[in-house]
Amino acid sequence: MEVVRHFSQIPEAEVLQDPEALEAFRRDESHLFQPPPLAVVRPRSPRALKALVQLARNEGFGLVPRGAGTGKAGGCLAQGPSLIVDFGAWPGGISLSKPDLSLSAPASAWLRDVKAAAEAEGLFYPPDPNSWPLCAFGGSLATNAGGPNACKYGMTRHWVLSVDALLADGEIHTLGIGSVKANTGPSLAQLLVGSEGIFGFIVGATVRLVPLPRQRLTLLLPVDRFEALIALPGTLCAAGYLPSAFEFFDPAVLAELRAHGPEEARRLPGEALALLEFDDRDCASEAFMDGLLDLLGPLEAHLQMATDARQREDLWAVRRMTSAFLKERHPRKVSEDVVVPRSRLKEFFEGLERLGIPAVTYGHLGDGNLHVNLLAAGATEPVALEAQLMDLFRLCVGLGGTLSGEHGIGLAKRAAFLELAEPGHLAMLRGLKAALDPDGIFNPGKVI
Ligand code: MLT
Ligand code: ZN
Repeated sequence: MEVVRHFSQIPEAEVLQDPEALEAFRRDESHLFQPPPLAVVRPRSPRALKALVQLARNEGFGLVPRGAGTGKAGGCLAQGPSLIVDFGAWPGGISLSKPDLSLSAPASAWLRDVKAAAEAEGLFYPPDPNSWPLCAFGGSLATNAGGPNACKYGMTRHWVLSVDALLADGEIHTLGIGSVKANTGPSLAQLLVGSEGIFGFIVGATVRLVPLPRQRLTLLLPVDRFEALIALPGTLCAAGYLPSAFEFFDPAVLAELRAHGPEEARRLPGEALALLEFDDRDCASEAFMDGLLDLLGPLEAHLQMATDARQREDLWAVRRMTSAFLKERHPRKVSEDVVVPRSRLKEFFEGLERLGIPAVTYGHLGDGNLHVNLLAAGATEPVALEAQLMDLFRLCVGLGGTLSGEHGIGLAKRAAFLELAEPGHLAMLRGLKAALDPDGIFNPGKVI
């Protein structure tokens, strides 16, 4: 009862406290299931946010930011007594400046609408996490979302010019400017992007755009030997061919897709398979193709080319549904998103075999960001599972990689991150947290 009285003080916000309504907020797209939050609040104005910060400070509970709940690391789930701040009702629209090649949008915008608004003007916003048709712009910024296009275009972080952020004083501050050049000391906007809300909450941002690629070459590369594929990202890059996407399925994932996947998946060829895309201006030229075919020659692959938009869409549809497909077949699977430099991919797969980790793998081979899936995780003793995951993470760190390439740390990987992070790195993060959020209001218990 006490609690209800407090929360009704929050102005210009919708408050959900009905236990049934709170159930939906105990999960995101990770394997975690957390206790319900004290309430879910949907702020509609800066006044609401200010009141929330004051209340959280006075009452000693945390504030957890949430967009569409498509995160994969539990960053938007309650850990300890917390209110979830759902940005779904946050006001504002998408606006675009063609001369500045920039776009501004509120946290509540759908990422698909942000991408479509750019495309409608012949412009391109490359970040494309697999959840892009369903995720919120704000969530993609808070988690520094990745995706296939990161292979050439980098992650969300690389596109952010400025952010509007709620900080510990309860006010919204604009960090950075909406222009490609600004050099006024360390970038505070970048501190917020990918912070998973631990330093403050992003309520809107201005991002950079580029002209929409005029050409696209989509190739399906079936191979008989998986090992041959592993060397290809490095070979292509070293020869000056940088794919805009280079996705792959290992033999086990491909076999599952072919046996139990949708119609389009049943026709997929090869022992293992890569989906490659180039968007260079000259990628339709003979010279480009000849050079590429020379590089692909040693794979002895029966290359297939998507000849129209429909074919391309079909190929991507299979790739996009892979995570959901595996989850449906193995509901208690654990999916990781480790990274190794592309020059160390061979050593990684050898290491995985040596360690005997029972995993299947697919994902973003071109940038070394691999979705290692432990399908039998649900039937594995928690201690043994923990040990397998730590072995996996150590293998990546030892090869110059890390434990997350795009999903973030959140709650799911916090313990492993604390164990594996470079001590100085961790100390700096903790120092920043203490300086920016001295009362520990913002997303407590996450990342660090
Ligand atoms: C993907 O690329 O499919 C997603 O990042 C999801 C996953 O972890 O499998
Ligand atoms: Zn991914």
